[in-house]
Amino acid sequence: MTTSYNILMLPGDGVGPEVLDEARQTLDVVAARSGFSVHYQEANIGGAAVDAHGVPVRDEDIETARASSAVMLGAVGGPKWEAIDPAIRPEAGLLKLRQALGLFANLRPIKVYDALADASPLKSEVVRGVDMLIVRELTGGIYFGEPSKQWTTEAGRRAVDTLPYGEEEIERIVELAFTLAAGRNKKVTSVDKANVMASSRLWREIATEVGARHPEIALDHALVDSCAMRIISRPLDFDVLVMENMFGDILSDEAAVLAGSLGMLPSASLSAGGDADGIFGLYEPIHGSAPDIAGQGLANPCGAILSLAMLLRTSLGREAEAAAVEAAVDTVLVDGARTRDIADGGTSLSTSEFGDLVRQALGDTLGTA
Ligand code: IPM
Ligand code: MG
Repeated sequence: MTTSYNILMLPGDGVGPEVLDEARQTLDVVAARSGFSVHYQEANIGGAAVDAHGVPVRDEDIETARASSAVMLGAVGGPKWEAIDPAIRPEAGLLKLRQALGLFANLRPIKVYDALADASPLKSEVVRGVDMLIVRELTGGIYFGEPSKQWTTEAGRRAVDTLPYGEEEIERIVELAFTLAAGRNKKVTSVDKANVMASSRLWREIATEVGARHPEIALDHALVDSCAMRIISRPLDFDVLVMENMFGDILSDEAAVLAGSLGMLPSASLSAGGDADGIFGLYEPIHGSAPDIAGQGLANPCGAILSLAMLLRTSLGREAEAAAVEAAVDTVLVDGARTRDIADGGTSLSTSEFGDLVRQALGDTLGTA
């Protein structure tokens, strides 16, 4: 019997649909060559869901996600929904999905492709060879802490956000960072602001305890401000970095500069559960909806296609296929193919032209079924 996977596609807003379409076509090629089948379902998320259903994500679509092997997401947000009630902002849909599905671990690999070492605004000798993994806690901290509100007093407007963390929440994400480091360069940098914040002091305490259980992995602690500096001044020093939700949001965008373009980078958001095949996860490029270039075929599909590779590896347990997709992207870049964001003013391909080249290269590696 042919193995079949249920994949939920959430194209979302802006360039989301166009890049997700490239990932889907790429998955079709992998499936055909590797002899499995994919059953796709599709639902709205973000602004598209607000327009269609009045909410940025529907409960029934969260249930469909839960019942699938994995979820792929394009992007959410855009100027059209900037002024609406914060409770139904497009971003709120993504946050609800993360929380409802328990996607506590956000993996953001920052890999500098050799062919793109010159595309970064940083010196190529600083970025060449960079291969770091940001592990961001995704369902706790200041993104979800209560109270979070704005109100008015006689003295003027006030607002509060709250940054709570529990011991188990910190422990499971740090533990995962150590597990991942064991398969890489055996180095974990735990990022915090322990010189100022109580939540960070707890974070450091627990990271130290987890570290003691993994003597084969080197652990160091970095304060988030100096870490932000080291990420661009000495990025080669890092292997796995682990941090709370908001620090991860900020540092991952910063680290993206190393790769030459936000458009290159994939991500996985994983939950603790998982069926026999692998770990449940939601996979998305980190670039966001880029409304200024939406619908013009200018988006870089690499983030989405490399997210597909992460899906194949982590949720479907298909390491060979994942590696083949990554190798295909590498080949195409080495051959000089560029989308506009990485073209440095030179000739560039459209989203689908680039995707076609990746699929051609992939077909060559995986052979014909
Ligand atoms: C990200 C994004 C999201 C976040 C937004 C869209 C809610 O910036 O995935 O990094 O802040 O987590
Ligand atoms: Mg972000």
